[in-house]
Amino acid sequence: FNPVELLIKKRDGYSLAPAEISCFVNAYLKGEIADYQMSAFLMACFLQGLNKQEIEALTKTYIDSGGTISFAEGLPVADKHSTGGVGDKISLMLAPIAASLGLMVPMISGRGLGHTGGTLDKLESILGFRTSFSLQEFKELVEKHSFALAGQSEELVPADKKIYALRDVTATVESPGLITASIMSKKIAEGAKHLVIDLKIGSGAFMPNINKAKELAELLMTTGKSFGQKVTVVFSNMNSPLGHAVGNALEMIEAIEYLKGNYLPDTYELTTVLTAQMLISTGKAKDFEQAKKMIDEAVVSGKALEKFREIIIAQGGEPKVLEDYSLFASSPVIYPIIAKQNGWVHKIDSRAIGYALVHIKAGRKKVTDTLDYGAGALLYPKIGDAIKQGEKIGEVHCASKNEAEKVAELILNAYKIADTQKDKEDLILEIA
Ligand code: URA
Repeated sequence: FNPVELLIKKRDGYSLAPAEISCFVNAYLKGEIADYQMSAFLMACFLQGLNKQEIEALTKTYIDSGGTISFAEGLPVADKHSTGGVGDKISLMLAPIAASLGLMVPMISGRGLGHTGGTLDKLESILGFRTSFSLQEFKELVEKHSFALAGQSEELVPADKKIYALRDVTATVESPGLITASIMSKKIAEGAKHLVIDLKIGSGAFMPNINKAKELAELLMTTGKSFGQKVTVVFSNMNSPLGHAVGNALEMIEAIEYLKGNYLPDTYELTTVLTAQMLISTGKAKDFEQAKKMIDEAVVSGKALEKFREIIIAQGGEPKVLEDYSLFASSPVIYPIIAKQNGWVHKIDSRAIGYALVHIKAGRKKVTDTLDYGAGALLYPKIGDAIKQGEKIGEVHCASKNEAEKVAELILNAYKIADTQKDKEDLILEIA
C-alpha cells in the first residue's frame, strides 16, 4: 500500500478503516515507513481527531504489536496510570504501598512526555535499574515480588514504545484518541484487571478543563470495559506542580522520603486516594476509611519501603540509594528562586515550568536526547499560598549557573502573584 495515500485520507478528514490503521502502524514497526511519515500521521490524527472505531483499532494494533500477560483468574491484579503531570511521582509510592498490601501491580509506564515527567525516567535515575523485560521475565517479577516497574519493550507494546517517543517531540500528545490507545494498550497488555486512572486537569495537564477530561475518561472507560477491565477514574487538579520536586532524581528522592513517612500534604492526599481506589476495586478494602488505615500502616511500619528495596534489587538497581542520596546524579549548581513581590499565588503555569526544565535536560527535545537525571527544581508554593518579596520559593538544580538563572526566571514568570487573597484549590475533583 502507499502510505502517502493514507496520509492524504486522514489529512483531509476521512476516517480510516481498522485494516488501514494496523497496516500503517505495523509497517512503521517494520521500518517500512519512516519517522517523518509517522510524524505526519500523528499530526493528522491530532488535528482531525479519531473516531471511536479508529481508537479501538489503534488500541488493538498497539496491543497486538507485542504479547499480552494474563494472571490466574481471581488474583487481585490492579494498576494506576496518570495521564501526565508536573512533579507527578505518585506511582513511585503507590506501587510499593499497594504491593505491600497484597495487590499484584504489573506497572508498565512511559518516559517523559511533552512538558510532563515519566515514571520510567525517574526509575532509571537509580543506578543499574532495569526497565526493559521480556513478557516472561516481567510476569515472573510480578508473581515473585507482587509488582514490577517496567517500560514498553520489544515484547510489550512495542508500537507504543516507538510512537510514544515520537509523540513526545512532535507536539502530538494532547489527542484523546492517541492518549487512549497509548495508555490502554499498556494497561491491557500487562494484564491489570482493575485500573485506576489519575485523569489530570489544568495548567500542567494535557486536558485543560473538565469537559475535555470527561471526554477522555469516557474513551478510557469504554476501552477498558471492552477488554474486561474495571476502570475507575479520579479527576485531579494539576494546576500546581505536585510535591516539591520536579526532575528525575529529585523526584525519586522525594518519593523515598515519602516511603520513610516524610509526607507532603498534596502527594499524601493523592497517593492515598488513588491507592484506596485500587484496594476498594479489588475488594481488599470495603471503603476509603479502611483503605486509608491500611495505606498509612504500610508506610509507618516500613513495609512499603522494604517492598521498594526488594524490587530495586530484583530489577538490578543499587538499593543503597535508599539510604545514601549522594548515589543519585546531582547538579553542580543549585540556584535559589527568589520571589520578587509580596502577595498570593493566583495561578501557576505548570506547563511552562515543565518546559523550562526540559531546557536543562530533565526531559527531551529530540528522541535521541540523553537526560541529566540530576536536573530539576524544588518548588514550594501552591496556588493560594502567600509569599513574601525576597523569600526563597524554590531552587533550580542544573549543570551551569547561566542556565540556572534563565530557568529560575522562566519559573518565576510562571507564578501569577497578586495582592488579593486567593483560596487554595481542591486536589481531588471527582471520582467516577
Ligand atoms: N500516558 C501515556 O502512557 N500515554 C499518553 O499518551 C499520555 C499519558
